Amino acid sequence: MKIVHPNGTIGIIGGGQLGRMMIYRSKKLGFRFAVLDENEAPAQALSDVFIKGSLKDADALEELSKVSDVLTYEIEHINTAALENIHSKGKVIYPSPDVLAVIQDKLLQKELFVKKGLPTAPFFKEDDPCKADFSARVFPLVQKSRREGYDGRGVKILKSANDEPMSPPSIFEEMVDIDKELAVMVSRSIDGSLALFPVTEMAFNPDHNICDTVITPARINEKTAAITRDIAVSVVESLNGIGIFGVELFLDTQGKVLVNEVAPRPHNSGHYTMEACVTCQFEQHVRAICGLPLGDTTLLRPAVMVNLLGQPNSSGAVAVHGLDRALQVAGFSPHFYGKSQTRPFRKMGHFTVTSDTLEDALKKAEYVRSFLKISSITLTGETK
Ligand SMILES: Nc1ncnc2c1ncn2[C@@H]1O[C@H](COP(=O)(O)OP(=O)(O)OP(=O)(O)O)[C@@H](O)[C@H]1O
Ligand SMILES: [Mg+2]
Repeated sequence: MKIVHPNGTIGIIGGGQLGRMMIYRSKKLGFRFAVLDENEAPAQALSDVFIKGSLKDADALEELSKVSDVLTYEIEHINTAALENIHSKGKVIYPSPDVLAVIQDKLLQKELFVKKGLPTAPFFKEDDPCKADFSARVFPLVQKSRREGYDGRGVKILKSANDEPMSPPSIFEEMVDIDKELAVMVSRSIDGSLALFPVTEMAFNPDHNICDTVITPARINEKTAAITRDIAVSVVESLNGIGIFGVELFLDTQGKVLVNEVAPRPHNSGHYTMEACVTCQFEQHVRAICGLPLGDTTLLRPAVMVNLLGQPNSSGAVAVHGLDRALQVAGFSPHFYGKSQTRPFRKMGHFTVTSDTLEDALKKAEYVRSFLKISSITLTGETK
């Protein structure tokens, strides 16, 4: 179903940076945006309508639904039962609540991958990990809480049976010997048409296990890239998903590609599309959920995206250090999320450097990373 264009209202559940970027990159299509969040949120200032309320509160979701022609979300931790209820009354919601229900539960996701014959790390489940007997298991194991994981929270590596597992119902995966972590943004429209963005490479900061650099195109051979794209498409088609999806995968040291997980929304690994592709992931999502033709996903230039995380040991009102210097770098483009308070490792913004060659983009990104910092204003040291 097409929503009324151009004056239709898109309701976004969640007002974080993904919602904010969705608004500022899609406003040009003419839509209005309503946002639900319980806190003052990055997307609030850009929204046409802001509803203050919890993403778990059925009444707040209902209120958002009433002012929206189509509902979408920028975070998975939502009251899915309430969403299903709204959906059953005829409201258009993309991706649909049943897709969200699968993705919210890492066990259901993994079971779907297995059912569809998609390569993924072997796993088992435990409903009460603290009472489970691990004596016959092969370690290391990667424990993942079935629900509410985010940015590596809810993931724990168990090196031996002596390591204490986390308590919530979990899956336990074999540890993959990872060569590279890959991601692909896949958009799928109401009519089933697909458009894929290039395969990217995600690099993680070893200190805090948050992806901090995304390199595009991924430095892999074309055969591996083709296998990666095929798996990513199968994941989204097996969900029957509509919208944009971030599919995370591992390339292991034997050259095998395994699917890790999927996000039913714009994704950190797709931020580079704003500067580097003809159409960006946010506009693409809006096109997909509104029944508009999908945009051209061609990569215009190699790109390196770096997350700007709050400095360790620094909390409070935000200070940005080194921006003047960074803005002098050709191909540098910053995005600040408008969060007034910083905390250690909080995602405060990101920047992308594009260049004619990936080597040059990497060099410039590392240069900017060395001095562009976000901390609290009380931190001593460089102020510009
Ligand atoms: N089976 C595995 N073997 C090796 N490393 C793994 C495995 N599963 C996860 N990891 C590592 O842990 C990271 C976080 O895992 P995962 O993506 O499943 O959790 P998450 O909390 O949903 O993370 P995020 O929100 O950052 O995407 C992965 O990016 C990878 O670095
Ligand atoms: Mg992940």
